[in-house]
Amino acid sequence: MLANKNKSIYFDNASTTPLDNRVWEEMLPYGNMIFGNPSSLHSYGMEAKESLEGFRAKLAGFIHAQPEEIIFTSGGTEANNLALKGIAFANIHKGKHIIVSAIEHDSILNTCTWLKEQGFYVSYLTVDENGFVDLERLEQLINSQTVLVSVMHVNNEIGTIEPIEEIGKICKERNVFFHTDACQSFGKIPIDVSKQNITLASLNAHKIHGIKGVGALFVKQGTPVTPLLHGGGQEFGLRSTTENLTGIAGFAKAAQLCIDEMEKESKRLAKLQEKLIRELENKFPGFYLNGDKEKRLPNNINFSISGLEGENIRLLLLLDEKGIAVSAGSACSNNDSGKSSSHVLEAIGRDPFQSRGGIRISFGRFTTEEEVERFLDIFESTVSQLNTIYS
Ligand SMILES: Cc1ncc(COP(=O)(O)O)c(C=O)c1O
Repeated sequence: MLANKNKSIYFDNASTTPLDNRVWEEMLPYGNMIFGNPSSLHSYGMEAKESLEGFRAKLAGFIHAQPEEIIFTSGGTEANNLALKGIAFANIHKGKHIIVSAIEHDSILNTCTWLKEQGFYVSYLTVDENGFVDLERLEQLINSQTVLVSVMHVNNEIGTIEPIEEIGKICKERNVFFHTDACQSFGKIPIDVSKQNITLASLNAHKIHGIKGVGALFVKQGTPVTPLLHGGGQEFGLRSTTENLTGIAGFAKAAQLCIDEMEKESKRLAKLQEKLIRELENKFPGFYLNGDKEKRLPNNINFSISGLEGENIRLLLLLDEKGIAVSAGSACSNNDSGKSSSHVLEAIGRDPFQSRGGIRISFGRFTTEEEVERFLDIFESTVSQLNTIYS
């Protein structure tokens, strides 16, 4: 438990965000008052169904999709699994080849490992030193057996924004389905599934101040997908189980708030990002940024300090003792005991030592300038505790 939560600084919003009170208030009636099963034929069910379809239409609108193209899931991981396994098995007659980028989230990479065990072929698309996928290489990798390309919209570790419109165009020209994991980008930068030629997109609620355990997969109408869950046939037969209406109500509200506030919030966060990078550069001669400086999410700063890469876990723990939460990579990788370095930093060309040394700061809606300033002071004194060069 945190000793003094009021004084603490939460800079790990890429891993998850605190629930916004406005979202919580929106959810409450769907816990006790509108509690019917949306599949029931009586009034309780009809009332729930009407609400569910309203939330579906709202979310669809935010990404320029049709309501029937939104499949609610338990989160980003399930949406990614449904996209990859669902496309692979439903289109097996066309081919067994899938292309994914080398810097995908574990929920894509580990799904690919499993698919390979089932007899599918997976190619890993390389990225450059800033984390951008190689579009020429993508063209070369697509062959007559390729059914799906999956490239994330924004990388969860380094915040790089991928050229998904160009990828979508290539996939359309080559008649291949295009999936994008938009868990980090949704609500932060615009998504237009039609303009960007996206066939499938994964979204979730807990990265945008909604609740954990809720997400969605956009599936373009007419795309053959095999379900993961079989049962009562909810979600257009693609995801059987009674829908989590309470969570979905919050998801729609959380997305609404992000869309309404996107322009203003992006500018605010970009200013804080710029300030923090500038100050860190000034204070630490060995500072270097991981990921692109321009085409990155305004809430993400992933950096290393030359010579201190081996100390990042110690640094993280010392900061935590002082009430500051930052990350050494993605939160999910912490569950993988065999994984000591970042596959993302490796993919952008960092050596094995540097690949263990990234520090990720991710801002959120409740981040303030005062917190950034306080962080800088505490960070500086903590680094000097570790290393005499900086003391
Ligand atoms: C890019 C990306 N994809 C997928 C996920 C998994 O989402 P969830 O926690 O909702 O399963 C995350 C969250 O860690 C993520 O950052």
